Amino acid sequence: MSTVDAETLRSWLEAGRQVIVLDVRSAADRATWAIPGSLHVDAYADLNAHNAHALDGVSLPADVPVVTVCNVGHTSKTASRLLQTRGIKASSLEGGMRAWSLSWNTAAVALPSSVAQVIQIRRVGKWCLSYLIGSQKEAVVIDAALQPEVYLNLAQSRGWSITAVLDTHIHADHLSRSRLLAERSGATVYLPDQERVKYPFTALHNDSTINVGAVSLTAIQTPGHTPESMCYLLDQQAVFTGDTLFLQGVGRPDLHANADESRANARLLYQSLQNLLALPAHTIILPGHTSIPTPFDKIPLTAQLSDVRNKAELLQLSESEFVETLVTRIPPVPPNHERVIDLNELGILIENPIELEAGANNCAIS
Ligand SMILES: [Fe+2]
Repeated sequence: MSTVDAETLRSWLEAGRQVIVLDVRSAADRATWAIPGSLHVDAYADLNAHNAHALDGVSLPADVPVVTVCNVGHTSKTASRLLQTRGIKASSLEGGMRAWSLSWNTAAVALPSSVAQVIQIRRVGKWCLSYLIGSQKEAVVIDAALQPEVYLNLAQSRGWSITAVLDTHIHADHLSRSRLLAERSGATVYLPDQERVKYPFTALHNDSTINVGAVSLTAIQTPGHTPESMCYLLDQQAVFTGDTLFLQGVGRPDLHANADESRANARLLYQSLQNLLALPAHTIILPGHTSIPTPFDKIPLTAQLSDVRNKAELLQLSESEFVETLVTRIPPVPPNHERVIDLNELGILIENPIELEAGANNCAIS
């Protein structure tokens, strides 16, 4: 039986290698999330019923490798066997979509007049965005959401040493890898000032600065999504907005909060957003999440502040309209979020976080 692991498939897609990804899950499972660019055939039930004709309706070229995908990598083996009997070079994704959860791709962010290089690292299975910022021989990582080796290898290949890791806030949808990355790289962990995180870190306050090579990051306190949330302004040109401001929406105000606290958080978020909107119109917004699995297209998910202001309807509202709209549009709470918060406060990365982190990403309100 031919199989490929998630890292191999990831590297093929990142390199633009010709491969067809055939998703054989049910339509309901695929609706939650999928591998960007994959084809779909709703053959899950037929394959599990050992129907030899389950894939008869699928037309595939014989000369392009096909990787079949299901939830955990069993049904996809049946699918690839069936395709092989038709002479198709098929293999199955080991561990299925569960293993794919840790996949990622990158896009370089062009900053016209900064001497920093910014790489956006997109966890395609979880829609988290983290950033590697390098200048001269130093680098900073913001919101590490993948295994440390990803950041260490990206930095090393550019001749950078990671000297600082930062989180924009205490995350509720995924485990922060910042502490572990700092241990592996010898970097300092910087976090917004608060008393919840139990491991040693250097606290950032409004206007704190961190130097990276020839550039600096300045912390901007932006409470609302969470009380401690911060954004980081790079060289007066780009701002890493975490879950405070997305390209088409804003952060949810309700996690770890009751109804009254959510409303108070929404008011704080409004004020924080006004501070961000006061930045120059050409400032590049670099958010902490996306709302769809990011394609392997090397196109960074960014926008100028003026474009975000024009597109995000919520940013046009008065404070009272904003608060009322926000609290009525709160999306479903991410599964396991209390446990994720607890682990992030303790700085513990459990051995197999995929199950804990599973589920749709619902960080944004638009
Ligand atoms: Fe968040």
